[in-house]
Amino acid sequence: MPTTHLLQIAKKLAHDAGKMALKFQQKGFTVDFKDGNPLNLVTEADKAVDDFLVKTIRNNFPDHSILTEESGAIDGPGDYKWIIDPIDGTSNFAHGIPLFAISIAITHKGKPIIGVVEIPGLKESFWAQEGNGAYIGMKRIEVSKVNSFQKALMATGFSYDRQGERFDKNMKIFHEFYKPSLGLRRSGSAAMDLCFLACGRYDAFWEYDLKSWDIAAGKIIVEEAGGMVTNIDGTPLNPKNGALLATNGSLHNTLLEKLKALGADKI
Ligand code: IPD
Ligand code: CA
Ligand code: CA
Repeated sequence: MPTTHLLQIAKKLAHDAGKMALKFQQKGFTVDFKDGNPLNLVTEADKAVDDFLVKTIRNNFPDHSILTEESGAIDGPGDYKWIIDPIDGTSNFAHGIPLFAISIAITHKGKPIIGVVEIPGLKESFWAQEGNGAYIGMKRIEVSKVNSFQKALMATGFSYDRQGERFDKNMKIFHEFYKPSLGLRRSGSAAMDLCFLACGRYDAFWEYDLKSWDIAAGKIIVEEAGGMVTNIDGTPLNPKNGALLATNGSLHNTLLEKLKALGADKI
């Protein structure tokens, strides 16, 4: 199947899903907790958008596999797999903050070929196709050229599990990195953070405990924009590990060294 055809479909789906999410934000929605954790919200919109995406993909591509945050894994016999976060940034969404994203990635025989991240609240569509660069709308994007830590504006995020060692570790990193850098941000949407890195708004992003649906689309967008994405210890990204470092490339070794000095690579 031509990749460009799949890309057009993924872009249209993300756009329609974004419109659906915005409508929910206007008319209201119910909110639940996930896994009994009062910090981990899931709204009616997360489920409805997930359902819309899964049903449309199943109808059009019955042999494709799908993995989404709200529906889990649906295995198909084909070579293609869709990896989807229907709403990345649910806490923002639930509080009326327009910083949330629909994140859709497609892999072929395990290799990422397409990434689409729609941010309806900002009217921004990020996308990338393997080997063809990364874009926001029609405009080609590139990572920044910042190569000093002092000039770097960076972002991170924190998981809903605030009891674990990883949470404390990232708080320590946040504390240690803030003063000597240009500044740090915590937007509440990892998919959006990766896109902001891809287009040069941020110079680096890291986080522990991310899931494959948070990062699959953003990773290919960053890489196609000339950036670098690895595990937080510098080894090739393993989405099951969830601890990720993404940079503009120029800052990667500096960040790895600083993270290592704080013991961040050990957990
Ligand atoms: C969350 C967001 C957030 C990140 C969390 C994720 P969700 O995804 O990406 O920025 O810090 O780790 O779980 O729950 O809003 O889809
Ligand atoms: Ca997410
Ligand atoms: Ca989500």
